[in-house]
Parts: sequence; structure tokens; C-alpha cells
Amino acid sequence: MILEDRIEANVSVWRERVARMIKEYGDFVISNVTVQQIYSGIRGVPIQVSDISFVDPDHGIRYRDYSINEILKLLPKAPGSKYPMVGGLYYLLMDNELPTLAKAKEVEEEWRKRATVPDYVFKIIDAFPDDGSAMAMLSAGVMAMSCDSKFVEAYHDQTVGKNDYWKSTLDDSIDLTARMPHIAAYIYNKKYRNNQQIDPDPKLDYAANFAHMIGKGDDPLYSELMRLFILLHADHENANVSAHTAHLVGSALSDIYLSCSAGLNGLAGPLHGLANQECCNWLLDLYHFYQGIPSKEQIEEYARKTLADGKVIPGYGHAVLRCTDPRFTAEMEFAKANFPEDELFRTAMAVFEVVPGILMETGKVKNPWPNVDALNGALQYHFGVTETDYYTVLFGLSRLLGITSHVVFARAVNKPIERPKAMTTRMLESMISEQN
Ligand SMILES: CC(C)(COP(=O)(O)OP(=O)(O)OC[C@H]1O[C@@H](n2cnc3c(N)ncnc32)[C@H](O)[C@@H]1OP(=O)(O)O)[C@@H](O)C(=O)NCCC(=O)NCCS
Repeated sequence: MILEDRIEANVSVWRERVARMIKEYGDFVISNVTVQQIYSGIRGVPIQVSDISFVDPDHGIRYRDYSINEILKLLPKAPGSKYPMVGGLYYLLMDNELPTLAKAKEVEEEWRKRATVPDYVFKIIDAFPDDGSAMAMLSAGVMAMSCDSKFVEAYHDQTVGKNDYWKSTLDDSIDLTARMPHIAAYIYNKKYRNNQQIDPDPKLDYAANFAHMIGKGDDPLYSELMRLFILLHADHENANVSAHTAHLVGSALSDIYLSCSAGLNGLAGPLHGLANQECCNWLLDLYHFYQGIPSKEQIEEYARKTLADGKVIPGYGHAVLRCTDPRFTAEMEFAKANFPEDELFRTAMAVFEVVPGILMETGKVKNPWPNVDALNGALQYHFGVTETDYYTVLFGLSRLLGITSHVVFARAVNKPIERPKAMTTRMLESMISEQN
């Protein structure tokens, strides 16, 4: 299988590099941790090494060291499409080589062969009330597949050694990502289309098949949006809440389904993945409140009221980024090229002109610029995907590509169980008084 062959070719190089680092530079100090960092979500403390992606504070995410613009240009596209095929993106995340179109298609073919979702997953989702949380359905569906895990089988097989665990983890990752479009679409149809389910179409690529299964197959532009959306949301470094959670759980040798389900639960939080839903709702409320595209003064009034109510302005700010998110820019260009007159998009553009200035005035927001969530919802809304409480599922569908790649990499280099240290306030106080 193509991904296994590529990783196999690299794994000894990766392992030697890690072993050499530890042997030769194990005592090299790269960071000191301050009291403030411990109390502020271990912000900025380096906790991971992963070559898959890196958030450059001033330029945004880089996948395998390629910027978003480079990725959009360099990854292979299916004939007639302007946006990369998702299979090629997965190939790049799992390895460090830009794939050809033939290789991207091979990954898509592998997904196609493994796309059948076990019936029990649908039964579990059906057990939720229709108005239940879409993310809880997704997480439960993913977690349930733990019983199919090839890694668990390998772990109990005396003939399989630790050095080969990555192979069954990769197998599980391909199974899981292959099934994700159907699972995500099933949730959409259950919740918002009176359970009218649509079978997958094996002729379609990953993104187009998802579009088809939620009833948007007639509009090729929506498939293009989903190719772009999946690419932009696939990964954002291995230290954000969802990726780090999955990594942490995986470090206990839990299988990929348990790890990813835990990661999805983190993604469901309003300060992380749920922000795209909150952002779209905020934009819609603003648009409806002023009965149309608001003026600058109206946006200013509305944003100040949001802050005065003690709320954040969703879609703005970031824990690491210190610039306009290039993923926001890519989405803006998509909308400008295809539906510049869309009223919600124009509202989002007007907000972009006003909100950074207001956030700067507060004097405390470290990054006043928009992140990708500032536009996600407006773009989905344009295509009639108006159910904002579903948007985090779209994020999860995309993000599992990055998360599974990080977990496979961690297994490939035999990363050990994670166990940082906690301390008491008294210990902290005495450490400080001893040094003063
Ligand atoms: C993403 C986010 C959680 C990062 O948080 P962070 O790393 O703590 O950000 P900062 O260091 O800049 O925060 C400093 C202060 O500015 C506030 N702040 C940051 N972004 C803000 C925003 N968009 N609106 C209002 N206040 C904001 C923080 O709440 C914090 O206030 P506090 O000191 O009273 O607690 C934060 O910017 C936010 O809540 N944004 C809106 C939600 C969002 O878009 N999330 C998606 C992220 S991809």
C-alpha cells in the first residue's frame, strides 16, 4: 500500500534522527518555563516535535514546510478542478514528498476500498435524538470503531513487535479517514434532511463524494469549496487542543479511534473548533440586527456591545498566530472569485475592516486579526449549508487527516507515554522564596 511503502522507506531515518538528538543533545536546554506560563495554559512552552506541520506566528501554518499558498499551487488537482485532491494532501502529511496526481489518486483509491462504514456506527448515531449534538454523534461513532482496530489486534499478537505498531496504526488511520465522509454526511442527513441518506458514489473523489452525500452533488463549486475547506483545516500543528489530546491519548497506546474521538471532543469546545459556528451566528445576528449589510459605525457599535457583555468576538485572535490567517485569505479569495456579492460574505468583509482596530484598542488582545473561522460559516451558508451547529463536524472531518498523521508519526518513532509534572501552590511558593 502506497502510504505504508513511503513511511517504511523513511522510518529508519526518522528514528535515527530522534535517537541521535536524545543521545547527543539530551541535556540541551531549549526553554525555561515561567510561573505565568504554567498558569496560562502552558502557552508557548515547546512540548512536541513533529515535522508534519508548524504554525509560524507571522506567516501561518506550514504543512511539511510548505505555506498554504505553496500547497494550493503544488499539490496535484483532478482534471477540471482548481483545488488539490484530498488524497494528495494526506500523502504529503504522512510523508515529506509532494505526490504526483497518480499517487494522490492511489490514496483516494485506497480510501474508496475501505469506505464502508460498519452498520453499528449508524445505529449508535441513530440512538441520539435528532437534535442531539452533532459533535457528540461524530465522536461516539468514531470511538465505537475501536472494536475494529487493527492496532489492537497487532498489540495482542505476540509476533508483532513495538517497532511495527505504526503499520497497524496507519491501517486504522486509513480505515478511519476513509469512513469519515460517510459518517459526517450521515449525521447531516439525520439531523437536517429528515434522515434521507444518500449512498456514496465511488466515482467521486473524497471531497466531492462528501458533497454528494449531503445532497450538494449538483453544484460542482461546492465540491471545490470542500476541497479547499478540507485542505485548510487538515492540520494546525501538534500542540493545539484536539491534536494534542489525540496525541496524549495515543501515547498510552490507545488505538486511533479512541485517540481521535478524544481529539474531536476537544475540537467541540467554543474556544477551538466550535468558534466557526459561533462566528457565523455572530455574523448572522449582526446582519439581521441591522437588517442588511451593516455600516462601519453599526459594526463598531455591535462589536463594542459584544465586548461590553464580556464576550469574545469569534473568528478573531489566535493563541499562536500574529497575522491575518492565510487560511482566511484563501477563503476570502475563493468567495471574491465566485460570489463577491453574497451579502453575508460582504458583511464578513466589512467586519474585517472594523474589528481589528477595536480589538487593538483593548490593549490586551495579542492578535487582533481574523482566523479561518471568521469566514468559514459565510462560505458554507452561501451554498445552503446553513446549519451552523454542524460546522464543527466539517472541521472534524478535515482535522482527522492531520491528527491521524501525527499519531502515526509518533508510533513510527516510538514516542513514549506523555507524563508532564503537576505541582502544588505551596511547592511553587517555596521554590520562589528559596530563590529570592
Ligand atoms: C483564539 C483565542 C482563544 C486565543 O486566546 P488567547 O491565546 O488567550 O489570546 P490572547 O493572549 O490574545 O488573549 C488576551 C486577552 O484578549 C482576549 N481576546 C483574545 N481574542 C479576543 C477576541 N476575539 N475578542 C475579545 N477578546 C479577545 C482574551 O479573552 C484575553 O482576555 P483576558 O485577559 O481578559 O482573559 C482567543 O483569541 C479567542 O477567544 N478568539 C475568539 C474565538 C476564536 O475565534 N477561536 C478560534 C481560534 S482558531
